[in-house]
Amino acid sequence: MVEIRAHHFHGRRVARPLRRHPLELMQALLPALRIANTAPELSQPKALFAQAPQEVWLEIGFGGGEHLAHRAAENPHIGMIGAEPFVNGVAKLLGQIEDRGLKNIRICDDDARYLVENLGDSTISCAFILYPDPWPKARHLKRRIISDKLVSELARVLKPGAELLFASDIPHYAAWTLEHLARSPHFEWTANRAADWRQAPPGWPGTRYEEKALKAGRTPAYLTFRRLP
Ligand SMILES: C[S@@+](CC[C@H](N)C(=O)[O-])C[C@H]1O[C@@H](n2cnc3c(N)ncnc32)[C@H](O)[C@@H]1O
Repeated sequence: MVEIRAHHFHGRRVARPLRRHPLELMQALLPALRIANTAPELSQPKALFAQAPQEVWLEIGFGGGEHLAHRAAENPHIGMIGAEPFVNGVAKLLGQIEDRGLKNIRICDDDARYLVENLGDSTISCAFILYPDPWPKARHLKRRIISDKLVSELARVLKPGAELLFASDIPHYAAWTLEHLARSPHFEWTANRAADWRQAPPGWPGTRYEEKALKAGRTPAYLTFRRLP
């Protein structure tokens, strides 16, 4: 479990100073829920939860945590790992954990790419990457979280049959993701018809960013990939 700083994080870590209560939550609640990128338990992530969950799911870049909290509340027997380096987003998720009394969330407040690299083989049953930062300029494309390296790490950590759910309102990013996943021999795209990627999957809780995209008239693409056996 050696952390080698091979990735450079380009996003925001803080937007504005935290108010009193979110700051208190960061000090009082986060330490009990925080997972270091290099935690030895990542090799067997069920061990991260006080009560061993049936499965472990992962959300990369949870933003304000609305989707993660919703999934956790809906699936109390699932252990949810969320990774998000944006402090104000982590504080928002902590508020929801407190308000809803959620017991099945662990948080990595850092770059998800290191976390994924330290997860054990075939330990994750579902992963979400929702509205990742688009980095639209040609010279910034290599900053996108979807890369051949991440796809190969996700192939390693996802169980056979596990799903990877991706959403983006940026057509070029959806195409980029399809190209990257198609290059991997370990994933299949589950769509059979246009409605499968144009419409949100059943029970989709939405995300904060998605709400903004829809209000601005942008149309998301919902891509679901399955880890092949
Ligand atoms: C456009 S926001 C979308 C947030 C949320 N998924 C939503 O849909 O509302 C993208 C998020 O990804 C996070 N992010 C960017 N790079 C990341 C990385 N390497 N590891 C984890 N999160 C990352 C950003 O901090 C940001 O909160």
